[in-house]
Amino acid sequence: MRCTPFHLVELTSVFVEYALASTLMIRVLHFSDVHVDIPLCAMPLRDLLVPKRMLGAANLELRRRKHFKQAREKLAELARFADREQIDLAVCTGDYTALGTEPELIAARAAIDAVIKRPLGFVTVPGNHDIYAEHAAHARFERVFGELLKTDLPELAVDGPFPIVRLFGDDLAVVAINSVRPNPQPWRSSGRIPNAQLAALRAALADPRVASRLVLVMTHYAPCRADGTPDKKLHGLDNAEALLEVCANAPRAAILHGHVHGRYHVLGPAGQKLFGAGSATQEHREGIWVFELDGDGSTATPGTWNGVSYALDRAASVVF
Ligand SMILES: [Fe+2]
Ligand SMILES: [Fe+2]
Repeated sequence: MRCTPFHLVELTSVFVEYALASTLMIRVLHFSDVHVDIPLCAMPLRDLLVPKRMLGAANLELRRRKHFKQAREKLAELARFADREQIDLAVCTGDYTALGTEPELIAARAAIDAVIKRPLGFVTVPGNHDIYAEHAAHARFERVFGELLKTDLPELAVDGPFPIVRLFGDDLAVVAINSVRPNPQPWRSSGRIPNAQLAALRAALADPRVASRLVLVMTHYAPCRADGTPDKKLHGLDNAEALLEVCANAPRAAILHGHVHGRYHVLGPAGQKLFGAGSATQEHREGIWVFELDGDGSTATPGTWNGVSYALDRAASVVF
């Protein structure tokens, strides 16, 4: 076929569209720890008879529930905020529920539905409240959130679907690591990244399909607290140092996490960039991040709840 002027015009416009698509900014919403709850009478009795959950249920009724009573309304508003801010991709670092029962997971999945309908989709990991006390809870989470746990590099998955690796445009990759485990002991809420996932993360960061991009590594547990010190032994990530060491070899990586209810940004010991979203819905502590990513430079802007909606604090943006 001969190339006519019409074909040349068409080819040129395709090329321009491709060039624009490869350099356009991607806007990412990071939220976490929404802790959507349901009445105890809606939870299976056999689940409530687990000792850890008996104590958790008492704590939920006496203390916790009041702090998250507007969780659903705030999530509905977060969806409107994401529409207004033209968010391309949403990510959530877990703790959807209070006690990790299946009816809670289903309720939370419904409550986030409008937030996660973004042009580039949604990436997530479970939190310790979603796995809570039983090994079977991993399968339960994957049953309810399964269609949200797709990966673009299935050959790197070593632990169910994890690590999930998603590639967006030419400049962004998201790697989701599952760091939660059942904690049947009432006094423990700590986590650990399995060695196989750490090795897969190392392989993913070195993979040519990922290495040239800005990489958002996301997991539930905080590698360190807002002041840079390790989290408490019974609450934190057992092998936080190993995660930080793996990410130290990826200068274009940032680590996104939840678990500690309070939004913050801190640098790790080797300059690793850490962003904790805190809780998007806990009364008086609401926090989120919005990342604006392009090939030339990226910013992270904190957001909070102003009593009516979520609002960004542009004066506090972090360039990274
Ligand atoms: Fe939480
Ligand atoms: Fe947590």
